[in-house]
Amino acid sequence: MYPLKAILIGLDPSLSQQARRELLNRAVHLEVEFDNAVDAFAALRRSTSDKRLLILSMASICDLESLSHLAVHFPGWPIVALVDGYDPKASLGEVVVNIIRTGASQILSLPIQTDDFKAALERIALQYVYSLSDTKVIAVAGATGGSGTTSVALNLAFEIADRHGLRCVLADLSLRMGVITSHLNIEPTHTILDLLRNTSRVDAFMTQQVLIRVADNFEILAGPDKLVTPVTTSANDLARVIDTLKQIADIVVLDIPCTYDDLYFETITAANQVILIGEQKLPSIRAMKMVREAIKRDSATEHLILNKYEAKNKGFSVERLLKPLEVSALHTVARDDLGMSAAMDGACTLRMAHRRSPALADIVALADRVLAIEPKGRTKPMGLFSRLGRALVNS
Ligand SMILES: Nc1ncnc2c1ncn2[C@@H]1O[C@H](COP(=O)(O)OP(=O)(O)OP(=O)(O)O)[C@@H](O)[C@H]1O
Ligand SMILES: [Mg+2]
Repeated sequence: MYPLKAILIGLDPSLSQQARRELLNRAVHLEVEFDNAVDAFAALRRSTSDKRLLILSMASICDLESLSHLAVHFPGWPIVALVDGYDPKASLGEVVVNIIRTGASQILSLPIQTDDFKAALERIALQYVYSLSDTKVIAVAGATGGSGTTSVALNLAFEIADRHGLRCVLADLSLRMGVITSHLNIEPTHTILDLLRNTSRVDAFMTQQVLIRVADNFEILAGPDKLVTPVTTSANDLARVIDTLKQIADIVVLDIPCTYDDLYFETITAANQVILIGEQKLPSIRAMKMVREAIKRDSATEHLILNKYEAKNKGFSVERLLKPLEVSALHTVARDDLGMSAAMDGACTLRMAHRRSPALADIVALADRVLAIEPKGRTKPMGLFSRLGRALVNS
């Protein structure tokens, strides 16, 4: 679900229908619709509710009055201006400057183009909702080998890109032999070693050349595709590469294999959020505890996950493990042999292979938790709108 509710203002019936369809397709809840900015203001002015996404149809490219009205009275609320007779490719710089200066966050020319609409909504969510500065780098680290770190990292990164529309790079930190490209059946043309061998020259441009695009908003930094002799890599070298990824992407997900060496601990420590993956097995639980104690993170940025979780395994249930692990929360990703093997066979992600996968549902919830997707502030019902608005939709 898109993190802001939408309000349509001044759209004629046919444009309103188009906009509703686009909103529905992007899982945006349309709250209410008004004929004009004055009505919207009259209905909304006493509202103390959270910010909404205002979508305003401008009567003409030069009529800035309604826009100005909304921008002044609802400071901090994003406004998408729908503009007829505006060609983004033609030189209408002055018009654009005026519209932006008056208060629009995004301008869309009519008729609505699906890709434009999607891009505008994604940018708004980034600017107005997510506080990504604390979430930029997510380390997914195995407590024990084979716990499912790569599976979780890959599917988490894909969900962040696909569901949340955030540009996400997944970096495979298996430096002797990468695994993600073989999982996706991709032959990499470049790998992370191209960067690690030249760290003094690494910049955003060079890094971009090395990334492999897998889907919309989703790229990978591949590990080596052949078994290579270890490249001496310091934590500083790796940090430099990760820093350039941060410049390129909204979110960087690191797949950190379980090596317990300095690189492992230092990379985990430097990340904004850590997802530690273990299983319902004694050695794995012991290793989770050991890694937790070594990295000493506050609970807000640490997420402990029992992967391949089976509720029937009572001896290793969440309730039983909270105390020995000394944590107040422990999350799970369900055991899902069917989904995982379908993804493996199809060389794809869980969403592509098995949409109803229980493991996927858990990974989606994990993505929401890690991104702290709650819109900032409270969400109150807006009962008043339902009486004043022209049409209340989706309720
Ligand atoms: N939730 C799950 N349910 C069932 N099987 C799973 C689940 N998660 C991962 N697997 C399976 O476990 C195996 C190991 O997974 P994966 O390669 O992701 O682990 P890893 O921790 O990255 O391993 P490594 O230590 O080799 O890097 C794979 O066969 C994968 O399909
Ligand atoms: Mg792995």
